[in-house]
Amino acid sequence: MSLFTPIAQAITIGVMTQDELKKAVALAALTYVPMGGIIGVGTGSTANYFIAELGKIKHKFDGAVASSESTAQRLKALGIDVIELNNVVELEVYIDGADEITRLLAMIKGGGGALTREKIVAAVSRTFVCIADQSKLVDVLGRFPLPVEVIPIARSYVARELVKLGGQPEWRQGFVTDNGNCILDVYNLQILQPAELETTLNQIAGIVTNGLFARRGADVLLLGSEQGVKTLTR
Ligand code: 5RP
Repeated sequence: MSLFTPIAQAITIGVMTQDELKKAVALAALTYVPMGGIIGVGTGSTANYFIAELGKIKHKFDGAVASSESTAQRLKALGIDVIELNNVVELEVYIDGADEITRLLAMIKGGGGALTREKIVAAVSRTFVCIADQSKLVDVLGRFPLPVEVIPIARSYVARELVKLGGQPEWRQGFVTDNGNCILDVYNLQILQPAELETTLNQIAGIVTNGLFARRGADVLLLGSEQGVKTLTR
């Protein structure tokens, strides 16, 4: 056996995997959970790590509003009360992941298809805490295809309108959102003005929601990196 083997192993162990970075930010987000309040909980693999941590402190808060059916199921499975958003006036905090995020905390979301409910829960929340590993931080949004939720009969029309805007839409076949709609993933966009594009897309008949979260971006980003969890604010 080579004497050098243990050293090589130590170096490998020092590198954190993407999942470890997601777990680290999920843990860090617990400090934003208010005592006795109701929180908004997002959707996706990073949010799932957060939900697992939430289960350990479920006595600390009153319940949660879920941004998707899958998140609601996970919360309930841990014995956390899931509250309907219509019964809540304001959420102190919403904690969710992102597919891409800039230093100004504008995001692309919806890789998991939950963008519409995520945008609604974010709108009702005083503070949006985004939890993400370092791979999600970008200078310009758009390398990740922009998800757009569309009323099914409008799919072809909306796709043509998206092509006019320079995008290359692809139908996420076989996927139906929690609201019974379909998703177009729009490739080839270089989004230099996310708030403007978010508004433009909102005007197209048949689009329910687009995955740009720029007009109401995050307030805090907990970014998982090799150097630890960094906190960025607007
Ligand atoms: C789901 C989302 C997620 O927040 C986004 O896709 C990030 O997911 P993950 O944490 O799995 O990378 O917007 O609709």
